[in-house]
Amino acid sequence: MSRMLCLMVFTLAHLLPFASGQDYIISDVEDSISKWNKLQADFWSWNIKISPELATEAGVNYYNDRLNSYTKAVYEQKKADIDVFLGRLQGIDKDKLDKRASINFAILQNRLATFSEGFKWHQYGPLNPISIASGPQRNTEHLISLIPFHNRGDFENFIQRLQKLPNQFHEWTENMKKAVEMGTTFHNVSIESVPSELDEMIPSDPEQSVYYQPFKATLDGIQSISTEDKNGIRARARVAVEHVITGLATLRSYITNEYIQHTRPNIGVSTLKDGYEFYKACLKWHTSVDISPEEVHQMGLDEIAKVKKRMEKVVREVKFNGTSAEFVANIKRQPRFYLNSPDHLLEEFSDMIDKRIAPKLSTYFKDVPKRKVRVQPSSSQGPIGQYIQGSSDGTKPGTFVVNLPSYDRMPTFMMMSLTLHETLPGHHLQWMYQMNSPLPKFRIYPDTTMSDVPLTFPHYTAYVEGWGLYAEYLGEEMGVYKDEYELMGRLGGEMFRACRLVVDTGIHVFNWTKDEAKEFILTQTSTSVAMAEYEVNRYITLPGQACAYKIGELKIHELRAKAEKELGAKFDIKEFHHVVLDNGPVPLSLLETVVDNWIIETKSASNAEQTKCVSMSTGLVPGILLMLFSITLVVTLRAY
Ligand SMILES: *[C@@H]1O[C@H](CO)[C@@H](O)[C@H](O)[C@H]1NC(C)=O
Ligand SMILES: *[C@@H]1O[C@H](CO)[C@@H](O)[C@H](O)[C@H]1NC(C)=O
Ligand SMILES: *[C@@H]1O[C@H](CO)[C@@H](O)[C@H](O)[C@H]1NC(C)=O
Repeated sequence: MSRMLCLMVFTLAHLLPFASGQDYIISDVEDSISKWNKLQADFWSWNIKISPELATEAGVNYYNDRLNSYTKAVYEQKKADIDVFLGRLQGIDKDKLDKRASINFAILQNRLATFSEGFKWHQYGPLNPISIASGPQRNTEHLISLIPFHNRGDFENFIQRLQKLPNQFHEWTENMKKAVEMGTTFHNVSIESVPSELDEMIPSDPEQSVYYQPFKATLDGIQSISTEDKNGIRARARVAVEHVITGLATLRSYITNEYIQHTRPNIGVSTLKDGYEFYKACLKWHTSVDISPEEVHQMGLDEIAKVKKRMEKVVREVKFNGTSAEFVANIKRQPRFYLNSPDHLLEEFSDMIDKRIAPKLSTYFKDVPKRKVRVQPSSSQGPIGQYIQGSSDGTKPGTFVVNLPSYDRMPTFMMMSLTLHETLPGHHLQWMYQMNSPLPKFRIYPDTTMSDVPLTFPHYTAYVEGWGLYAEYLGEEMGVYKDEYELMGRLGGEMFRACRLVVDTGIHVFNWTKDEAKEFILTQTSTSVAMAEYEVNRYITLPGQACAYKIGELKIHELRAKAEKELGAKFDIKEFHHVVLDNGPVPLSLLETVVDNWIIETKSASNAEQTKCVSMSTGLVPGILLMLFSITLVVTLRAY
């Protein structure tokens, strides 16, 4: 038995990426470590230089006067530089790195390789930078909110940025022209609503522009700038903003008069040249696993059957005469499941977190967050509740933003699963782990451009959102769903995520029409027609994205089942959760390796005879984490 285990560990040590050799010369180790440290530093310096907007986001202020560039030459330069970094990675003996470094090494390698391999799709995503999911109408406010405005230099930098904006719009337009020429445009549904959204950014008075806002009260409040200088700054800002507005108007008219006229006739990417391969690449980018669209489709159908069975059981228990979808639709119409004031909504969410969930956490997690999630009311449009992570230095707390005007849209029985997903033990707990782990900058700020997928650095949605769904599930184990209705709310959500696997692949591989896609969702769930419409448009625009959630969740369940089976009585749920969270956003294949290593370690550690084995086994990598989302995700797709 002990021999067998030793053998297994030994074999795995040779297969797994984090295996450490037994004997090596110290100088080799130092050499590898210093090469790795230098490479990491060089990569980050390169990344913020080539993506000045990323630098700003990361709080590095050297490049606040510049903008990202989207010309073909820039993509080509990036690809060439990335291939050089990949070559340098190959020159490092990763077995000589410690556990933490080896995870970071694997992540950097995965990110670089993803970009390099994704380059063959540069005539797809990058040529279509504007859609319902991305573009200036989506992310400008967020981008401006990241800019520091503390002194004169900050305002001058911003004016320079504004002066360069019309050129950025021009680069996008040139790319879109190329998409028209290549026949790789979006379908109309991905962009038809954009011109009217852009109109809102084209006010007749430039001082009403979102770009001018920092020059109002914010500038007024800066004591170190004289009134005269402030006036000068404002005058130049006004001129710059006028040019930005003109640039936006030009962009808008190009979209309306040209691009939209040449949108692709079919909703699925399967009808583009090499569309099937393109979809597979998108699917891989989002899910971080090699999985065929056909498998995903089948997986969705299987999940639907599973969830339906559970829902029907509940329906029988409550003696409802009808299908499960009818039952959910029915309870959604009952006034007793709606709160009667915005305050009540806020109070209810807070109680769920503090009174119902928090007391149960310590049974499932060994490091229960010390920082409470802040529940903050909001009166803006958007999801009913969404989590906005805090700043990485902890100065800004993690926040659950509750959309108060929506209080009469949210049935109470759907609130618990949302709370579990967004706060505890979902995204807030993920963020707490991140706060406690020293992540390298390139992992905190992944530099993802959603519209470029699969030609952009991944940020591992499947891991992040998979955990969110797993947290919803965990609520059942924790016993926090108080009745059949809350359980139904949760299962309804599950059903929806399962449908996404079927519909996303249906659209992009099985040539479903939009009506078929909507009909599928409406038949399987109790979703409103408007919501089904919104969802389907989203799948059409971001091929594969919606599949990441469920695939991530299924992987976490699979790994847990494996660990329970392998470890038997030695399985500790708190340790398992720690292992999954402690390593931060990683590709699912890497998560699997990490869990496998932990299983091996746990087995050997608990067996005194295995001392030798232990020294040979590979370690687990306490790491880090971060659920940093692209702007697009923060703004539009962040929730649920
Ligand atoms: C795009 O959609 C809009 C709004 O539904 C419609 O008016 C327009 O004719 C469509 N254009 C094309 C080219 O399909
Ligand atoms: C259930 O509903 C169907 C159709 O609405 C009706 O024919 C049937 O009598 C109902 N059964 C019970 C037990 O109420
Ligand atoms: C979907 O359409 C594409 C392009 O017309 C075609 O090549 C493919 O075979 C179709 N797939 C299915 C499953 O019908």
